[in-house]
Amino acid sequence: MTDRIRTDVAHNARVWNHWLGGKDNYPVDRAVGDHVTGLYPSIGEVARADRAFLGRAVEFLAGEAGVRQFLDIGTGLPTVDNTHEVAQRSAPDARIVYVDNDPIVLAHARALLTSSTGGTTEYLDADAHDPDGIVRAVEPTLDLHKPVAVMMLGILNFVMDTDEARAIVRTLMDAVPSGSYLVLTHPTLELGGEGNEDAMRFWNENATPPITARSGAEFASFLEGLEVLEPGIVSCSRWRHDVAREIRFPQVAQFGAVARKP
Ligand SMILES: C[S@@+](CC[C@H](N)C(=O)[O-])C[C@H]1O[C@@H](n2cnc3c(N)ncnc32)[C@H](O)[C@@H]1O
Repeated sequence: MTDRIRTDVAHNARVWNHWLGGKDNYPVDRAVGDHVTGLYPSIGEVARADRAFLGRAVEFLAGEAGVRQFLDIGTGLPTVDNTHEVAQRSAPDARIVYVDNDPIVLAHARALLTSSTGGTTEYLDADAHDPDGIVRAVEPTLDLHKPVAVMMLGILNFVMDTDEARAIVRTLMDAVPSGSYLVLTHPTLELGGEGNEDAMRFWNENATPPITARSGAEFASFLEGLEVLEPGIVSCSRWRHDVAREIRFPQVAQFGAVARKP
């Protein structure tokens, strides 16, 4: 499997890890990542805001919403507060399936398989372009007659065709019952983010996989037929931020939303 790892071209999972301050990346990832930061200085803040959103969303789902099953597609490299750690803090019996197609994530997957007793974590080396295959492969671990939180954070932006991205979401949400949730984040050019467009162009010429931004209307189309929870589609940094302590995070150019299947 390690011979699948290419060290001559920057890979998203590893560059994302670099932006988050991790060490699981190669010189080519750091060089491309730093060049992107030069063009788009808030990218590190976007990555941190996205992870913080993941934490708040999973805490809500495993807590108040009572969800016990999570399908986290486009997992990324293990970092602090991975989905199973957040979920199993309040729900030790939570079952989590992680999915990614990057060989470096597979190589580090053991760090994701540290489930609490009573719960389960599994890792699936699979491609989001094959949602039917993912549904078939998760069936031994997840009971698809009970609610599942389908999480796609920062991944639909790697499905370049919007109709295909919509179809992937539809296939996954059709496979799970009423009371399931969809959790999404996605980069956009509509929430500021100076230099984002140039950075994406540079990325697409120098790294893999290619990326695209989407409008609020396109993001909303992924949530069609679902009930979008308050506060709706917002910058992920502003989704249920800590109102009680009046901590207001700066807006980042990344939409975030949580929606429930009726
Ligand atoms: C920006 S990172 C986001 C990681 C994590 N979800 C988060 O929000 O912190 C995107 C992840 O999606 C994975 N990915 C990209 N295209 C994919 C595909 N077609 N199938 C599965 N995973 C994919 C990458 O390898 C990377 O780990």
